[in-house]
Amino acid sequence: MKEFIQKLPKAELHLHIEGSLEPELMFELAKRNNIKIPYKTIQDIKNAYNFTNLQSFLDIYYAGANVLITKQDFYDLTWNYILKCVENNIIHTEIFFDPQSHTQRGIEFKTVILGIVEALNDAKEKYGITSAIVMCFLRHLSQEEALKTFDEALAFKDYIIGVGLDSSEIGNPPSKFEQVFKKAKEQGFKLVAHAGEEADVSYIFEALDLLNIQRIDHGVQSIKSSFLMERLKKEQIPLTVCPNSNIELKVFENYSQHNIKELLDYGLNVSVNSDDPAYFKGYLNQNFINLWENLDLGKEDIIKLVKNSLNSSFISDDLKKEYI
Ligand code: HPA
Ligand code: ZN
Repeated sequence: MKEFIQKLPKAELHLHIEGSLEPELMFELAKRNNIKIPYKTIQDIKNAYNFTNLQSFLDIYYAGANVLITKQDFYDLTWNYILKCVENNIIHTEIFFDPQSHTQRGIEFKTVILGIVEALNDAKEKYGITSAIVMCFLRHLSQEEALKTFDEALAFKDYIIGVGLDSSEIGNPPSKFEQVFKKAKEQGFKLVAHAGEEADVSYIFEALDLLNIQRIDHGVQSIKSSFLMERLKKEQIPLTVCPNSNIELKVFENYSQHNIKELLDYGLNVSVNSDDPAYFKGYLNQNFINLWENLDLGKEDIIKLVKNSLNSSFISDDLKKEYI
């Protein structure tokens, strides 16, 4: 089965590029940029990755991102993830980035986006990997700040396919960002949002009805509303589920408690994704392997999950036909 998973050509729709920063590169960049990090060894870093919930992870994730300064740093970060795509047989990836966690530190928007874009162009040329970029707003910040970031992004519109919403979910509902998502829609951006990772189903309803999103990131709390489950099934709204992340952030106690198989069996459009693989013990294949080892997943289930992600991607219908 491991070989079967490895060999399947896959897509990834929920990957934070900053969450692919491996400890080794964090050290290298800290040294290169003369930045102090609170760790002496790679093992120290790995020991710190012991999370109790989403916030405990985000604190460490934002601190880690402080080593990213130059365009070359963002290139190296993205290129290292591309090498993992090659290893994992990921043929198409839609990556999130968090511009505000960099612009807030005085790094220019263009430094971030151009480093990422260059690496993705090289990935297409060298490995044929296709990709898209989704810009996320940090929901713990204000809508005003999101609007400012949106305006800044317009100069790079051609590189950004959509906008998303991430960071601390509870207490920062989608309704806080109605205006900026409305603007993004008017400008033709695709819309996604993290919803129902930790917070209740009202966040998913708001994301759908107030932000008009096309995909829900995580969404595993949907199971708590049969009304919502029916709607998600009927409308086939994609849920980009991240099993390793859910276990590491204690959304579920262990893999056998994860509800992805129930969501799939109910007829929802769910896919498997790695979220922040450098922090959550593994890339895409490892997520599939963990599910397969702990849930009653057959080959058909795995194929369905992979097809769902290709189908729910923002690639053109022509490319979809080629891939599926
Ligand atoms: N949830 C919210 N914000 C995030 C995540 C996540 O899983 N990963 C990176 N930022
Ligand atoms: Zn995420």
